[in-house]
Amino acid sequence: ACPVLLDGRPVLACLLLAREAEGRELLTIEGLAQAHVAAGGQGADALQEAFDRCGALQCGFCQSGMILSARALLARHPAPREDEVRQALSGNLCRCTGYTQILQAVALAVAEACGQPAPRRAWEPAAPPGEER
Ligand code: FES
Repeated sequence: ACPVLLDGRPVLACLLLAREAEGRELLTIEGLAQAHVAAGGQGADALQEAFDRCGALQCGFCQSGMILSARALLARHPAPREDEVRQALSGNLCRCTGYTQILQAVALAVAEACGQPAPRRAWEPAAPPGEER
């Protein structure tokens, strides 16, 4: 639950000594929206928005680690395959939602960043034949 981004790479804050962060870029979930705005965006980071829209949290305990791990992945690989997303998030555990909505939230953020249609979410019924997205 504790990943932060140190020079853009996820590290476990609980194992990071303060002196190891000295002079380096440290990004926490609290600074993600500000970083997004500073980079020219508006509002929250696309992953934060996607997690919200997909219902990818319940208690929120895992959310910061999930989002920051995904943000680090998308920064170096803007259109990852699902197995790459799973690998990037594999150190993060969620006790509440399962992982379906979390993976869908990352897929939604990727699709929107790439100008593709949003993937169907787990709770949405499949489109009737001939009306697929
Ligand atoms: Fe509760 Fe993931 S939302 S642990």
